[in-house]
Amino acid sequence: GAAAVGGVALTAQAEDEKGGASASGALVFDEDAYTTLTTTVTDADGAEREVAYRFYKAVTYVTKPVDKTYQSLNISVPVKIDGKAVEASGAPILFANSVGGYMPSSVAEATGVGGGGMGGGGAPSGAPSASAAPSASSTSGTESGSSAQLSGGKMVSLPQLGLAAGYVVVEPGARGRTLKNSAGEYYGTAPAAIVDLKAAVRYLRANAGRVPGNVDRIFSTGTSAGGALSALLGASGDSPVYEKYLKEIGAADASDAIFATGAWCPISDLEHADGAYEWNWGSNKLSNGEQVDQTVSKQLRSQFTEYQAGLKLRGLNGFGQLTARNYDDYLLKTYLQPAATKYLTDLSESDRETYLKKNTFIDWDGEQATFTWAEFLTHVGARKKDAPAFDLFTLPTDSSDTMAGDINNEFGAGTEQYRHFTLYSLRKDKGASARLASDIPEKLRLMNPMYHLVDKPNSGRSRHWWIRLGSADSDTSLTVSANLAAAARQLGDEVSHLYYWDAGHGANEDAGDFIKWIAKTSG
Ligand code: DHB
Repeated sequence: GAAAVGGVALTAQAEDEKGGASASGALVFDEDAYTTLTTTVTDADGAEREVAYRFYKAVTYVTKPVDKTYQSLNISVPVKIDGKAVEASGAPILFANSVGGYMPSSVAEATGVGGGGMGGGGAPSGAPSASAAPSASSTSGTESGSSAQLSGGKMVSLPQLGLAAGYVVVEPGARGRTLKNSAGEYYGTAPAAIVDLKAAVRYLRANAGRVPGNVDRIFSTGTSAGGALSALLGASGDSPVYEKYLKEIGAADASDAIFATGAWCPISDLEHADGAYEWNWGSNKLSNGEQVDQTVSKQLRSQFTEYQAGLKLRGLNGFGQLTARNYDDYLLKTYLQPAATKYLTDLSESDRETYLKKNTFIDWDGEQATFTWAEFLTHVGARKKDAPAFDLFTLPTDSSDTMAGDINNEFGAGTEQYRHFTLYSLRKDKGASARLASDIPEKLRLMNPMYHLVDKPNSGRSRHWWIRLGSADSDTSLTVSANLAAAARQLGDEVSHLYYWDAGHGANEDAGDFIKWIAKTSG
């Protein structure tokens, strides 16, 4: 099938002549190293399909792996669907990371498609627990990062949906923040996860024509931290700023650009997330009924005002420049009211009546839902995180609660598990003359898709974006994904961004539509 792939079939010899990491042959994909598996999966329309597929397991994607458990990927290639032969050599590639909580993610032990997950090697689960999900989102929130639903409500696995659609499914592992070597050094903190995902893409591209699927049609997906990394992968394609890190692990000498980006509830723009969080949820109480420190909240909120003004992003639908003053109105009109409208429209008449009786803040004229920002905030209820939400004033002492100080850990380095990444929290902790560690500014750039979309618009970015977020998700500010969408669209990219009404953290409620979007977009 090599010749069918966009006419760019590289022979092993041609690859060798290119030099680079693959000259040794170590990164040459072995087309014969598969087992054939058969499984019954749900397709994008909710039908059961029997799929026979070739499963390539735990393929190490770099020549100098730090930890193969994480720096390897699985590939699933459909060969028969319901007994009918499928030709997937030119099919789109669903590149589905399973990162949650910026934790390590390994696919090395998976026994089939969609088997990736947290940890590996006994690492603790980093996904927020179901009990931590916002309480207002009782109707349709999902908690697990990899869970997805069809619009009818049926639970599905995104990689399996991709397989049932005839796509090649690549599931990469990646290092994560809790990994520590025998010298006590953290080797999975920023930028390890994005460097690994890029290396995995390079592996595929270096093996164009050998690896099944069209490497010029890579669709990346991820949820939460995985959504942030997917967005970053899309925004940063072929950016030179990762070069030295990629060299270090022996990544293939190839492009790491991807065609399209899927990002669900991205926990992104981390150094601005504390301010954005207070702008959004600052007046909401914690689940224990306590109000967060309102002085801190206001100080952070004013940081958001400044940041948002500096972005100079225009809203959709002629909204003009997005600022801290109009963003509530923008979210309401562009995302939240339409989300509620769709939700109510899709309900049966009696369910709609019941919902409206319970939620009298919604004005329903028979066609459209309207409500105020204050009403919306009250409806969502408890905020999930204290202030500041991400860069804690007091760094955790090494604890078993792996989500406490998660982002402080993500910006750890060497033997330091937790470090500050904002001047504000650092100085609250250490005094007014404290300075951020000298490598932090670079690490922040390496981890932030906004750097590649706003600060230094990157021509290697993906041009197609599918961004989704639950309206009751208070893991971060609702502005984070809206800014991401606005930034990509401002550069002229195709952006589909919707909020799922009343859905909590990790929601993916229109997975079938996403699978169809892949076919339409790659066409
Ligand atoms: C995730 C959730 C968070 O609240 C966070 O701070 C980081 C990551 C996650 O679910 O991946």
